[in-house]
Amino acid sequence: MEKRVILLPDETATVALGAALAVACQQACVIYLYGNIGAGKTTLCRGFLRSLGYAGNVKSPTYTLVELYALTRWTVYHFDLYRLAHTNTEELELISILDYLDHSSLCLIEWPQYGKGILPIMDLSLTLEYQGTIRRAKAEAFNANGKRLLAALSLQQEPYS
Ligand SMILES: Nc1ncnc2c1ncn2[C@@H]1O[C@H](COP(=O)(O)OP(=O)(O)OP(=O)(O)O)[C@@H](O)[C@H]1O
Ligand SMILES: [Mg+2]
Repeated sequence: MEKRVILLPDETATVALGAALAVACQQACVIYLYGNIGAGKTTLCRGFLRSLGYAGNVKSPTYTLVELYALTRWTVYHFDLYRLAHTNTEELELISILDYLDHSSLCLIEWPQYGKGILPIMDLSLTLEYQGTIRRAKAEAFNANGKRLLAALSLQQEPYS
């Protein structure tokens, strides 16, 4: 396993981290996004989607469980499983959505701890948290794909370090 810490001094940095991740994707991938309410998970997803050419509004999928974006090369699945903390009635719905994942799927999953046992295994996890007055992302790679993403991120860190 490989780990890296990326400092996020402002919202732009969180957006840029999402964008850098998206650009680095070369195959289907699953990214778990941990962090408290308001830590910046959806903000990062916005940067990810924008850099893949999606210009619209990025809604938080708290009530819908997932938002799907069919883009040119990839289909991005943006999950928010927070609601599963309180009820598991949607678990079957989640399982049926996961059936659609294929080689062109990029999954961003907020609150993955509530989908334990159901979700596909992650390539990379990011934990967004406060570091004094700024924020940071702790990134952890779990396989070769995740390691490759981490390596690409460190190459792209200069512009916002
Ligand atoms: N690095 C940063 N520094 C300061 N503010 C930030 C940073 N990144 C994001 N923000 C701001 O923090 C807020 C984060 O909201 P966001 O919806 O992204 O959080 P979230 O982690 O998805 O929360 P939830 O668990 O409720 O879905 C937004 O107002 C955003 O502008
Ligand atoms: Mg969110």
